Amino acid sequence: MNVNHQIVAITGGASGLGAGAARVLSQAGAQVVILDRNESLAQETAKILGTTAIACDVANETSVLSAFEKILAELGPVRVLLNAAGVDVIAKTASRKGIHSLDDFQHMLNVNLTGTFSCARLAAKQMIDAEPLDDDGERGVIINVASIAGYESPAGQVAYGASKAGVIGMTLPMARDLAKYGIRVMTIAPGAFETPLTKTVPEELWNEIIKEVPFPKRLGQPDEFGALVRDICCNKMLNGEVIRLDGSLRMFNQ
Ligand SMILES: NC(=O)c1ccc[n+]([C@@H]2O[C@H](COP(=O)([O-])OP(=O)(O)OC[C@H]3O[C@@H](n4cnc5c(N)ncnc54)[C@H](O)[C@@H]3O)[C@@H](O)[C@H]2O)c1
Repeated sequence: MNVNHQIVAITGGASGLGAGAARVLSQAGAQVVILDRNESLAQETAKILGTTAIACDVANETSVLSAFEKILAELGPVRVLLNAAGVDVIAKTASRKGIHSLDDFQHMLNVNLTGTFSCARLAAKQMIDAEPLDDDGERGVIINVASIAGYESPAGQVAYGASKAGVIGMTLPMARDLAKYGIRVMTIAPGAFETPLTKTVPEELWNEIIKEVPFPKRLGQPDEFGALVRDICCNKMLNGEVIRLDGSLRMFNQ
């Protein structure tokens, strides 16, 4: 799909990878709508990019319903959804100090997995009800964000890893569900990127992780993530697959 003039909703678009994609897709002519629970940052990012923002908590169904209704009423149907909203918590299953909080585990699943699904189904419905964009009958593209932690999480990321493995597992069945309507579903599994989320990780740990990256030996940049989002939109043969974007990093025995 050529994203020029198309409506692109980006959850978590106020910051980090979502903001990187918002920048790249805006430059490609898309009409980007940032959906983020951090309303002030979302407005700030939207202002810089000359686009719009709607306050939305992906873990809250009412909030998600109202955000997608607003997009449809004010702009038209979403043609691309990037599900980049996500949170992380570091905690082990159990240790001598205690057990993993069940609330933290469920919160992780609510935002990273259920939130992704919740937005995907509403965007898909808008795409299904819209006219095809070309002779192949393409109506839209849904791009989810997992993580290489969905395959090989380090210790302390049991909840995060479970939530991202769920996103990976949703990719093929969702693509199969929506194929007859000309809607593609892809997932990106990033490795280590430089964003506000990862700034909380101690520098020594980053240096250890970067040593493990075969090439390039550095953190990825949000614009490199945004470029893959744009390329997935453009290339119609990409469907039902998870792409690792990680410089070949494999997190074994961390
Ligand atoms: N940065 C990395 O190295 C990396 C690696 C693998 C996967 N990821 C994934 O990429 C995605 C983006 O991460 P990032 O590094 O850009 O983080 P970030 O913290 O910079 O951005 C995440 C954005 O999501 C928003 N958000 C959080 N919870 C939300 C909710 N309930 N509803 C709506 N918005 C919400 C935040 O306000 C923030 O703007 C996440 O899903 C993360 O798990 C990041």
